[in-house]
Amino acid sequence: VAIRLIGAPTDVGAGSRGASMGPEALRVAGLREALQALGLRVDDQGNLAGPANPWQPPLDGYRHLPEVVAWNRAVFMAVRDALDAATLPVLLGGDHSLAVGSIGAVAAHCRARGRKLRVLWLDAHADFNTSAITPTGNLHGMPVACLCGHGPQELLALSGTVPAIAPHCLRQIGIRSVDAGEKRLVHGVGLDVFDMRTIDELGMRQVMDMALAGLDDETHLHVSFDVDFLDPDIAPGVATTVRGGPSYREAQLCMEMIADTGLLGSLDVMELNPAYDVRNRTAELAVDLIESLFGKATLMRA
Ligand code: ARG
Ligand code: MN
Ligand code: MN
Ligand code: MN
Repeated sequence: VAIRLIGAPTDVGAGSRGASMGPEALRVAGLREALQALGLRVDDQGNLAGPANPWQPPLDGYRHLPEVVAWNRAVFMAVRDALDAATLPVLLGGDHSLAVGSIGAVAAHCRARGRKLRVLWLDAHADFNTSAITPTGNLHGMPVACLCGHGPQELLALSGTVPAIAPHCLRQIGIRSVDAGEKRLVHGVGLDVFDMRTIDELGMRQVMDMALAGLDDETHLHVSFDVDFLDPDIAPGVATTVRGGPSYREAQLCMEMIADTGLLGSLDVMELNPAYDVRNRTAELAVDLIESLFGKATLMRA
């Protein structure tokens, strides 16, 4: 299938400015050309439009809620249109609050076609805060809660069904920063979390075997890749670094094992922040890993 790149240049859901420059940094790092070199058809539809960042303090536990809603509506429609056109949407973020629109559209698509959904959430953070427990009010810390039915009505309504997804569709990988109230909520909904300790103890190989268990050809696999998943030593270009993330080798294996399923149906590449990067190396690393996610391998496979 053809890949459709969709830029969402905003940081309205984040606590720092700069993720709005993510889409262009990925283009400068050669994302389109890298995928084309794998023999894939790629169409870059350019950037979505939305409100500017008003840089206001939180109101009732949310920062910039109207702006986050507006951007998510644009993302929802673009991802829905890409899936309707039988292309594989790749959302270039932008902050991670936009996963509500992206995964909301994927979930609606799966519901309409009777397909199963599996979401792999690659992140340092669980992104399961609500307005009642968030330490920051930043909506990029809340998309998973919103998708599971906990959040502001305007965001819950996007996908057409509340909740947009059941928690058991989700597998979180690489988690190493969860706020106190968030911890209770994540436990309460029984979210499947492969945190860094689990990766340390079992290795990435076994963790990915577990995270990918139970897929079949009826399953649409969505990957939501928060670039802060990666260890900050190799990926400094994000605003919310947490030390002790997956190494280059672990991240490569993670991507390769997802590629091997042959089921990847949609992708988010989020939170890349060129204002924190060093000579665009984090964007280049992201492109390198996305190549593996789309099947680049050292040798011919079987
Ligand atoms: N848990 C923190 C918060 O709620 C950080 C969230 C970071 N999320 C992200 N997508 N980078 O503010
Ligand atoms: Mn994160
Ligand atoms: Mn995130
Ligand atoms: Mn599909």
